[in-house]
Amino acid sequence: MRVQPAVTALLPAAGRGERFGGEQNKIFSDLLGQPILAWTLEAFAQCDEIARIVLVGSEGDSDRLWELGEQYAKDKLQAVVLGGSSRQESVRRGLDAISTEYVLVHDAARCCITPELVAEAVGATRIHQAMTVVRVVTDTLMRRSGELVDRKDLMAVETPQGFQTDLLRRAHLSARTEGFVATDDASLIRRLGRGVYLLESTVPNPKITYADDLRIAVALLSSRTHPQRFAPTPSE
Ligand code: CTP
Ligand code: MG
Repeated sequence: MRVQPAVTALLPAAGRGERFGGEQNKIFSDLLGQPILAWTLEAFAQCDEIARIVLVGSEGDSDRLWELGEQYAKDKLQAVVLGGSSRQESVRRGLDAISTEYVLVHDAARCCITPELVAEAVGATRIHQAMTVVRVVTDTLMRRSGELVDRKDLMAVETPQGFQTDLLRRAHLSARTEGFVATDDASLIRRLGRGVYLLESTVPNPKITYADDLRIAVALLSSRTHPQRFAPTPSE
């Protein structure tokens, strides 16, 4: 059997969680008895396609991030890297620690990710060199002016996003040189004129942005950890 090139998960976790609120970075907040980040780490640790994990964190969080890595990432945590003032800068710094052919970038705050979706994302990355998970939009959408926008043309862009590592390095270098800033990495690849494969997912994979988003995460994660509570009642 041919050995597949290894893949590292790069998890940016150096935000401030301003919209979430609270004293600490939201990724340390409790979600069903463990920190938000622990759920994300477990999903990547459980996926055999992921060889290593690199966390990007804020100054002062390093010890805590190592502790969580040791507890929840099954020996896969390779490094904790100091982040920057934007997500893009945090990912760029994290890339310096990556030594594998492929990298999967995933928001630490997207904690409902499943090992199965991670594996699918790795498969698509190996085939296409650049991919992002997307979801079709189901809401009716309009501009502030009141004009409706046809949702058939739109996709919600999520993570994981997977890349051949050197390709993503080149994209970050080019964006930095030209002062281009985006909220995801696939946009930087597209800016180079390269295609990005869209992996359409129907599995809910929300990002914890506001404190109220925790309710959605609780519903999603507890249906996984206690499936019997959510199973339909058998009919008599
Ligand atoms: N992130 C990062 N470095 C930054 C900013 C964000 O690593 N300078 C990370 C966050 O920790 C998060 C992911 O990027 O896992 C997505 O960012 P977002 O949801 O916006 O988180 P925050 O930036 O922490 O939240 P806010 O924008 O409300 O402050
Ligand atoms: Mg942010």
